[in-house]
Amino acid sequence: MKKAIVVGATSGIGRQLAILLADNNYHVGITGRRAELLAELQELKPGKFKPSAFDVTDTTAIPQHLAKLTAELGGLDLLIISSGTGDLNPSLDPGIENETNAVNVLGFTTVADWAFNFFEKQGSGHLTAITSIAGMRGGRHAPAYNASKAYQINYLQALRQKATNLKLPIFVTDARPGFVDTPMAKGDGRFWVATPQKAALQIYKAIESNRKVVYITKRWRLIAFIIKHLPGFLYNRM
Ligand SMILES: NC(=O)c1ccc[n+]([C@@H]2O[C@H](COP(=O)([O-])OP(=O)(O)OC[C@H]3O[C@@H](n4cnc5c(N)ncnc54)[C@H](OP(=O)(O)O)[C@@H]3O)[C@@H](O)[C@H]2O)c1
Repeated sequence: MKKAIVVGATSGIGRQLAILLADNNYHVGITGRRAELLAELQELKPGKFKPSAFDVTDTTAIPQHLAKLTAELGGLDLLIISSGTGDLNPSLDPGIENETNAVNVLGFTTVADWAFNFFEKQGSGHLTAITSIAGMRGGRHAPAYNASKAYQINYLQALRQKATNLKLPIFVTDARPGFVDTPMAKGDGRFWVATPQKAALQIYKAIESNRKVVYITKRWRLIAFIIKHLPGFLYNRM
């Protein structure tokens, strides 16, 4: 039986990924701050999940939590980072921005580094993170969200390069959703909204085939291309 940890499994895409992994012969470590939601997930599929409630902004405690959970699972083949936050911030409140940075930058980095170092020592493994189309370019509605997702995309690229240089079979999958119907999807004008189930299935398939980058759903690749290549004088008016 393979072993996986989903960081941010209490809700949305992470929760669906945890269920999908459990249905596909994985023993799954599930994390998030809300212990009651982890317990609910455990009740749904008894014997499939090991819970560990912790906050990724408490970065000094992360290595301990992940090491303990890995020991309880009896090893680790795959770690998925689905924890994330972000809020619309029209008044540029630095409190909102730095709350986003604490989860999406500091928490993300600490989890990703722990996973990569574990896989390097082990000689193999797979790290996946749910980034976002928002990481393609800056965005005025939630500046820290876009910037933190760009950071994640860039960081994953660095880890992929590191794995190649180490000549180790460590895979890094960057899953970039457009809109998915979860509490995270905020703002008006949403379109091409995927269900969390559909998003999780496409991410799972990308992991299984060791994909480097995957757009969720596939047609968001087109939007990513447009956002990236739109001339500045047009983009800045949006
Ligand atoms: N939904 C979309 O349209 C969309 C689009 C592009 C990218 N994404 C990305 O997809 C990922 C998953 O989001 P989602 O849409 O599934 O949203 P969600 O349902 O709100 O799930 C977010 C998860 O992150 C965890 N989390 C948040 N802050 C945390 C903290 N401080 N410590 C530990 N865990 C924390 C939450 O757990 P607790 O609250 O229990 O701690 C929850 O399990 C995020 O990285 C998001 O940026 C989402």
